[in-house]
Amino acid sequence: MSGFDLNWLDLREPLDQQARDQTLLEKAARFVQSAQRRTILDLGSGTGSTFRAMAPYAPDAQWRLIDLDEKLLQEAARRHAQDNNVAYQHSNLNDLASLSLDKADLVSASALFDLCSQEFVDDLADRLVKLRSGLYAALNYTGEISFSISHTDDELMVRSFNHHQNSDKGFGPALGPRSTHALAAALSRSGYRVEIAQSDWLIDKTAIELHRLFVDGMASAVAETGMVGLTKNQPMA
Ligand SMILES: C[S@@+](CC[C@H](N)C(=O)[O-])C[C@H]1O[C@@H](n2cnc3c(N)ncnc32)[C@H](O)[C@@H]1O
Repeated sequence: MSGFDLNWLDLREPLDQQARDQTLLEKAARFVQSAQRRTILDLGSGTGSTFRAMAPYAPDAQWRLIDLDEKLLQEAARRHAQDNNVAYQHSNLNDLASLSLDKADLVSASALFDLCSQEFVDDLADRLVKLRSGLYAALNYTGEISFSISHTDDELMVRSFNHHQNSDKGFGPALGPRSTHALAAALSRSGYRVEIAQSDWLIDKTAIELHRLFVDGMASAVAETGMVGLTKNQPMA
């Protein structure tokens, strides 16, 4: 169990699918299609959102979805009972040596690396480089949030939230908004060609439930940091 709620993952999937950069998605799929084994390992797969996004572009790929949360993996297996090219692995990513990364042409992960530590990213990058595997790392939080109806405390809230993003999410101190840069630096140091694209969420009135959960989650995270003090009966500026 890792604490990621099925309802939350379902609510975010349509926004994620819209936010994914299509060019990078298709490039990653072509990379696999042209590889010998056509095997993809999806780290922190949840219910298989990366698979659902990429499978149409890599129809011959063999997938292994890896997650710590057995319930999410069971749900993935239920949703993809008809897909005989998908296997499921219950593992803790912290034990990278146990994942059989050597079986993969491409490692993928969506909405994962901002939870991870610098140490984890460096270890994974070293292993990928040795194996000459590709990496598709989508939907990493960059620390940028803006609101269409602004408030004078927005900047303070986002700064506090980003501070919370660096707390331990199960991998040691999390990279949070620095994860894209950390991955890019680790891989380009070893001669990898790294391409980066935007994957912004647009939360509009069609995503009210997600909006509510997102703002509630942000408020809890900000409260935990203790960086914003509110006095009773004293409204925010
Ligand atoms: C934000 S969710 C993203 C899920 C999925 N990739 C998606 O885009 O919908 C992060 C996922 O990482 C998994 N996870 C977190 N820590 C993990 C760990 N130490 N080992 C394996 N999976 C982990 C969670 O269970 C969850 O499914």
